Amino acid sequence: MSNELVTTMQQLLVLEQLHKSYGSVKVTDDISLSLAPGEALGIIGPNGAGKSTLFNLISGGVSADSGRILLAGQDVTREPVFKRCRRGVGRSHQIPHPFVKMTVFENLLVGAAFGANQTEKASYDWCAHVLELTGLIRKANVLAGSLTLLERKRLEMARALATRPRLLLLDEIAGGLTEPECLELVETIQGIHRGGTAIIWIEHIVHALLAVASRLMVINFGRKLDEGEPRAVMSNPRVQEIYLGIGS
Ligand SMILES: Nc1ncnc2c1ncn2[C@@H]1O[C@H](COP(=O)(O)OP(=O)(O)OP(=O)(O)O)[C@@H](O)[C@H]1O
Ligand SMILES: [Mg+2]
Repeated sequence: MSNELVTTMQQLLVLEQLHKSYGSVKVTDDISLSLAPGEALGIIGPNGAGKSTLFNLISGGVSADSGRILLAGQDVTREPVFKRCRRGVGRSHQIPHPFVKMTVFENLLVGAAFGANQTEKASYDWCAHVLELTGLIRKANVLAGSLTLLERKRLEMARALATRPRLLLLDEIAGGLTEPECLELVETIQGIHRGGTAIIWIEHIVHALLAVASRLMVINFGRKLDEGEPRAVMSNPRVQEIYLGIGS
């Protein structure tokens, strides 16, 4: 077996030259990426750069025009969402859309029962644990439709965690929160990461992102602009110019 193949097999996630277009617009343009088990990667980029689309491709909601997606060495490029979920991909959506007429606990049970494919007893125990972890335990029996924005964001993350992911995809989970709420959320995400879950977090609030991520990727017009150690990436003049609006 070649060294390259061994390395690929050891990665939790590998994206190989992914492409996705809507009509003539290239939304994902030759993106390649590797993520080790338990690693935390941050993604930034301007509005419409193709960040959420990348999550759709990884989780299976959108299929790639070309390229490959490997999860723990298995090619999942053509697998549907539920199969990838059972392999350990959990995602939160940029706009929370819980089952508003179900309680918080019931919302989690759906993910635990269908996503993680576990017994009813195991699902109950796990969901209670996730509610503790995400600070929602006191809201367990409240209807999801009555939650505040912070609570909805927490629920979005909790629903993803209910599926017992090895890879958690967080899409702008801190947007719209106050600074203290954002700090609370960062602590929760740090706790999930310390527990061994790999995380890819798309976020415009860079300081929150950098409190969790040890690697940063910048996407612009569907292409990878830079990737690497966060401070080095943030000081790249092209990143500053395109993302932060600094420079000539
Ligand atoms: N289903 C679709 N059909 C057509 N165009 C789409 C579709 N989904 C996304 N797009 C377009 O693809 C581009 C990238 O969208 P995407 O949601 O991935 O961007 P983003 O980086 O997540 O942006 P934001 O920061 O605003 O969330 C946008 O121009 C968007 O309008
Ligand atoms: Mg988005």
